[in-house]
Order: sequence, then C-alpha cells, then structure tokens
Amino acid sequence: MEIRQLQSDETPPMDLLLLADPSTRIVEGYLKRGQCFVAEGEGCIVAVHVLLPTRPDTIELVNVAVSERHQGKGVGKQVVRAAIEKAKQLGYATIEVGTGNSSTGQLALYQKCGFRIVGVDLDFFTRHYDEEIVENGIPCRDMIRLSQDL
Ligand code: COA
Repeated sequence: MEIRQLQSDETPPMDLLLLADPSTRIVEGYLKRGQCFVAEGEGCIVAVHVLLPTRPDTIELVNVAVSERHQGKGVGKQVVRAAIEKAKQLGYATIEVGTGNSSTGQLALYQKCGFRIVGVDLDFFTRHYDEEIVENGIPCRDMIRLSQDL
C-alpha cells in the first residue's frame, strides 16, 4: 500500500471522504484548507485522510476513511500512523483528532495509535449537523478531542 498526497488536478474521492463525515459542506471546507492523502493498493484508492493546519505548530487529522471492503484489516492503523509521521516530518509539535462520543471503534483506533483524550466539545454534532447521527445504538452528540505530542 502506498500513501501519497492527492495532486491539485486530481478529483478527491468524495464517496470515501463522506464515509468519515456526512456533510459535503464540511468535507469541502477541509479539502480547501488541508492536504488530502490517499492510500492506494492494487491500483485503486483504499483509504483517505486530510491533514489540516489549525494553529501554529498544530495540525489536525480529519476525514480518515477506509473503503468498506478493506476495513478491519489494519489499513486504518497504517493510515493514522502515516499521518502522525507526516505531521512530524512537516515540523508540527502536536497532532489532534476528533471523533464522536458514539464512535467506539475510532476511539480505540486513535488511542492505540498514541492519542490521548484531552477534551469534550459538548453538543458539537447537535450544533453542526442537521441530521441525527446514531452509531452503535448511541446518539452522536459530543466531539471527543484527542491529541498527541510529536
Ligand atoms: N470496533 C472496535 N474496534 C475497532 C473498530 C470497530 N468498529 N474499527 C477499528 N477498531 C480498532 C481495532 O481495535 C483495531 O485494533 P487492533 O488492530 O489492535 O485490533 C484498530 O482500531 C485498527 O483497526 P484497522 O483494521 O486498522 O481499522 P480500519 O482499517 O477498519 O479503519 C476506520 C478504521 C474507522 C478508519 C474505518 O472503519 C472507517 O473508515 N470507518 C468509516 C469512516 C470513519 O468513521 N472514519 C473516522 C471518523 S473519526
């Protein structure tokens, strides 16, 4: 599997990006402000993520998604680890990531990759998304913020 930055003349894989975030408007904002990376295997895109500079020395990992066919095989872990390495190479001091209170698998993945929970943005999803989101039988209301020193 090769992970590379998407070139400006390439079309972002919207279907995959929308797996991580149901809002086209929010995804398009991330693409405008951040760098989109794709992971390719056997000639097709299997995963995507975006690195978004937020504050001086801090970058946020957003829109991590692995195609449904390739989930549960370690691709997500490889992508998150590659994003951490890239952020280090770019000279950032901190990498952050956020996920929903109901995203139990994602919370496991990020903590296994070294992130620690640093805060909760109460009602983030209720405020920013029109449709109700439910995962694992849990209403997704709050954003769990995680961070890692590089
Ligand atoms: N439930 C429990 N644990 C899960 C999980 C789930 N649904 N999904 C991932 N994990 C954990 C596992 O514990 C695994 O650890 P292990 O290797 O020690 O067993 C670890 O995360 C990595 O799993 P991996 O196979 O690398 O994950 P993946 O390739 O399936 O990618 C996602 C994980 C979340 C990126 C992928 O499921 C996905 O694209 N989901 C839809 C989009 C999304 O939710 N993006 C994140 C937005 S915050």
